[in-house]
Amino acid sequence: MNINDKIAVITGAGSGLGEACATFLAAKNAKIALLDYDLSKAEHVAKKLNTKNVLALQCDVSKAESAENAINQIETQLGTPSILINCAGVATPTKIISKDGPLPLQFFENVINVNLVGTFNMMRLCAHLMSQEKPDDNEETGIIINTSSIAAFEGQMGQAAYAASKGGVASLTLPAARELARFGIRVMAIAPGLFGTPMLLSMPDAVQESLKSTLLFPKRFGLPEEFAQLVGAIIENPMLNGEVIRLDGGLRMQAK
Ligand SMILES: NC(=O)c1ccc[n+]([C@@H]2O[C@H](COP(=O)([O-])OP(=O)(O)OC[C@H]3O[C@@H](n4cnc5c(N)ncnc54)[C@H](O)[C@@H]3O)[C@@H](O)[C@H]2O)c1
Repeated sequence: MNINDKIAVITGAGSGLGEACATFLAAKNAKIALLDYDLSKAEHVAKKLNTKNVLALQCDVSKAESAENAINQIETQLGTPSILINCAGVATPTKIISKDGPLPLQFFENVINVNLVGTFNMMRLCAHLMSQEKPDDNEETGIIINTSSIAAFEGQMGQAAYAASKGGVASLTLPAARELARFGIRVMAIAPGLFGTPMLLSMPDAVQESLKSTLLFPKRFGLPEEFAQLVGAIIENPMLNGEVIRLDGGLRMQAK
């Protein structure tokens, strides 16, 4: 799909990977809806992009009504989206049992609700709108790119909830692509390794150093721009569909 002049919805757009995607797509002349739980972060990114083709909105992706409101505003103010990039996510560590007893269930539920239910919530709403559009010259009406994680395949101790949520995102890629193909909508997922975003850089230095020691090559955290570069390649290459692409510099996380 040609990015120029298309309408893109980006969740978690106020930080990290979502912000990098917004910068990348704005440079390619897309119109962008920046959605984030924290409106001030989305507005800050909108200001930096310095284009009038941008709309910053508060949205909790895990809530049906919040996402529906955001989509209605996008329809009215920008038009029908052709691109959805789901980057909203949380990585709260959740050990199943601790000295305080079993993990309160709501911790597990919250991670699943934001990362998995939130991804599906945005996907169902955007896919519905895309399915009603006229296909472009390549027979395409939309592209949906979800963010999984290599934790979906090699989750470590403390990542039971996160890994389960990202495993869910990976697993829904193929059935969603199969269902939406008839409308000219592609569905892809990216499973990043370790990227230098606030999510990772807010971890204690010792944890970051220990993570760095596991890297294969390059021996550094990925740059958010490198994630956005892959998003661009996926949008522009119509043969990419129904697949989860690892973007991890060859990292395979070990048990610890
Ligand atoms: N950084 C990494 O190394 C890494 C690795 C693998 C996967 N990921 C995934 O990539 C995605 C982006 O992560 P990041 O590193 O940019 O993190 P980040 O913390 O920098 O950005 C995440 C954004 O999502 C927003 N958000 C959180 N809950 C939300 C909700 N309910 N509704 C809407 N927005 C919400 C936050 O406000 C924040 O702006 C996440 O899904 C994360 O799990 C990141």
